[in-house]
Amino acid sequence: MCGIVGYIGTKNCIPMLIEGLKRLEYRGYDSAGLGFLDENSKPKNIKVKGKVADLENALNGNGHFSNIGIGHTRWATHGIPNQTNAHPHSNKEGTLLLIHNGIIENFGVLKKALINDGYTFYSDTDTEVLVNLIDSNYKKKEDLFQAVRYDLNEVEGTYGIAVFHKDYPDQIIVAKNGSPLVIGIGENENFIASDVNALIAHTSKVVYMEDHEIAVITKNGFKAKTISDEKIKKEIQEVKLTLEEISKGGYEHFMLKEIIEQPESLRNSIRGRLLEKEGISKLGGLSGYIDRIALSKRIIITACGTSWHAGLVGEYMLEQYTNIPVEVEYASEFRYRNPILSPDDTVIFISQSGETLDSLAALKETKRRGALTIGLVNAVGSSIARETDCGVYLHAGPEIGVASTKAFTSQVAVLALVTLLIGRRKITSPQDGMEIIKELKSLPEKVEKILQLNNEIEKIAENFVDADNFLYLGRGYNFPVALEGALKLKEISYIHAEGYPAAEMKHGPIALIDENMPVVFLAPKDSVYDKVVSNIEEVKARGGKLIAIASENDTTIDNLVDYSIKIPSTIRMLMPILNVIPLQLLSYHIAVKKGLNVDQPRNLAKSVTVE
Ligand code: F6R
Repeated sequence: MCGIVGYIGTKNCIPMLIEGLKRLEYRGYDSAGLGFLDENSKPKNIKVKGKVADLENALNGNGHFSNIGIGHTRWATHGIPNQTNAHPHSNKEGTLLLIHNGIIENFGVLKKALINDGYTFYSDTDTEVLVNLIDSNYKKKEDLFQAVRYDLNEVEGTYGIAVFHKDYPDQIIVAKNGSPLVIGIGENENFIASDVNALIAHTSKVVYMEDHEIAVITKNGFKAKTISDEKIKKEIQEVKLTLEEISKGGYEHFMLKEIIEQPESLRNSIRGRLLEKEGISKLGGLSGYIDRIALSKRIIITACGTSWHAGLVGEYMLEQYTNIPVEVEYASEFRYRNPILSPDDTVIFISQSGETLDSLAALKETKRRGALTIGLVNAVGSSIARETDCGVYLHAGPEIGVASTKAFTSQVAVLALVTLLIGRRKITSPQDGMEIIKELKSLPEKVEKILQLNNEIEKIAENFVDADNFLYLGRGYNFPVALEGALKLKEISYIHAEGYPAAEMKHGPIALIDENMPVVFLAPKDSVYDKVVSNIEEVKARGGKLIAIASENDTTIDNLVDYSIKIPSTIRMLMPILNVIPLQLLSYHIAVKKGLNVDQPRNLAKSVTVE
């Protein structure tokens, strides 16, 4: 949510900042801007409504050279997406420029005070309040770093900011609370970004800023403090990420690339983590905690969106194989209830980005209440990964497409590994453990087989481009898959879709069924197959258009449905990994056929770092 980049050094930063913004565009893409000191040390602030490509066009031919600059790609919170509300924001004189990711909650009060002091405002943003507050403090204190630090003590809310002033042509000041910020360390040059994707073309050495920290960055180094003025020592870390991993690699869209990558991402999620002979998993990140986890009276899984759907699958698995009661909570609700937690509870946080603000806030509340926290996170070094007591990385590789795909399948696979680890200490027999391992290992090949149905699914998609609504139905382990299928469709094709437990249909949604309503059934041959078939009959009797995701050996389903997609089978706990893939492809093709930008759907952004 909002991408931030910055550079200070000896080279021309303009092309680097543009390139960095392109890599971050998945975080927000309604407007973009660059602030820099030009060759005459004059501050320049160039902003556009639209995408980074529009910013590039606006810059074209200007031929600027600058060795200090900041850039921003916006996902609007306060104020509509337009040029005026785009970042950087500046003081009246245009000498102080600031970019911001997050929300200043007390901006109304601060704005009133500034207006009383004679300040005027040109935009609707909370960020302009921040820049004027710094301006006001700077004019009183005559020290930029102290002014920013002081200012942040007055601010309530979240921020990742980068600021520079014409009077300090050799420094950028950055600070973080709640929104991610990382410093990239180079030779005679340093970088900043809201995530490492924007840096890795230039350096693999990074320093992660923590909440309430502020740093001044020059071309030769950086100095960090807390905003309450305590000295701190920051560690430089090495990131192992390649440019290839974050490029489209010849695919038309990141989403398609990431769907196709799933055999490999699943292999990476389970590699080195299975002890076949013992029928158990080996998760280094949980060692030292497993006794406490296995003794938990309750496990709570908390997450948002797609990660929450993976959590629902985890609930079924953990209850079946560990006998520990499990609850799954939306992080956004969990943090605003008064959650009853004790040191006997284990709370699992699932997140692709590791930066989702609601999940991060729920994590902080959980830690305050003494429960053990586990992170199942994809982005290495992210806030949730750093702040949980222990955890397991998904190793799915960077996910850039806004609609989450490979992260979901890796989340379910890693939940299976965690289930195995705890289950074998509780009620799962070695034989069942070995069976789970065998099936986990067979998944990549089965996914490859499903991906071969891509053309068939694309043809089916042609029939649904004009649909206004969709229903997705599944039972047991496949109910969360129905929710995930519906979410995928609505976020990229803007078709209204709902997921339901198949048996719930007759308690209300059946009223929606007519010949215009496509209904996707998850109907693998499992213990509830006959019941799902009865639900299919109920829809058929009312004229609904039927699509079934069915087992490859199912020959009867074709007589019941309009379209069937036949896929390999596995044990019930792992079926969501296979069943979700045709649904990802179906959504993808419908959206592409509608001419929509699947990688940057309207109103969305990857990594929701605001409330
Ligand atoms: C859906 C999607 C979102 C995320 C949600 C949580 O395709 O991407 O629903 O799953 O915002 O994000 P993470 O997993 O990064 O915490």
